[in-house]
Amino acid sequence: MAKLLYIETSPRQARSHSTAVAETFLAAYQAAHPDDEVDRLDLWAENLPRFDGEMLNAKYSIMHGEQPSASERTAWAEVERIFARFNAADKYLFSVPMWNLGLPYVLKHYIDIITQPGLAWRFDPASSSYEGLVQGKVAVVFASGGMYHPGSGAEALDMQKPSFYNWLGFIGLTDVTTITVAGTLFGPEATAQARRDGEAQATQLGAGF
Ligand SMILES: Cc1cc2nc3c(=O)[nH]c(=O)nc-3n(C[C@H](O)[C@H](O)[C@H](O)COP(=O)(O)O)c2cc1C
Repeated sequence: MAKLLYIETSPRQARSHSTAVAETFLAAYQAAHPDDEVDRLDLWAENLPRFDGEMLNAKYSIMHGEQPSASERTAWAEVERIFARFNAADKYLFSVPMWNLGLPYVLKHYIDIITQPGLAWRFDPASSSYEGLVQGKVAVVFASGGMYHPGSGAEALDMQKPSFYNWLGFIGLTDVTTITVAGTLFGPEATAQARRDGEAQATQLGAGF
């Protein structure tokens, strides 16, 4: 029995295209894998702790092999708790809208909390390289108002998909399936078509995930 973690990052709920297509993916996935466990994480419903000085001090104490103080240990326990839920999954589904060419800040906040040395990644002195410590396969539903596909002339502006793929790869998640719902600000017809295309892909990919 596998465990899938669904991370929702749009706050728009019923109006959200990325959430709707991710729900279609999930329905197909659950029909095909009725015994699997699905954990839903709505980042807007979470009260994520501030990633502040105390957490950073804890991070640097650990990175430098120093003994963290009592308050640093308290802050780090929060990091470990949030990371443990993330790391407990075998499969990941993210719904990710484009905000100002990049990621919604709540997703960046979550990334900053869980991307920690010794948890999500480690530095290997022998090879002088970083190694991701998270395992699993990933499906992402991206949504954007504009179009940023290769040949669109706008691809260089897209900091949503490249930054997200880079982060996934950095923590070890390289088996990634993507669905893109693009052009949701190009009028009702273009939006309906983008949704239909996304839903069709989600139905097919979710069943086989
Ligand atoms: C704060 C904010 C910033 C946005 N910035 C961009 C942008 O830079 N480029 C773009 O193509 N669309 C942008 N959009 C449009 C959204 O990407 C688009 O509406 C998408 O459908 C949102 O995903 P959702 O429907 O899942 O919430 C922005 C939307 C919001 C709310």
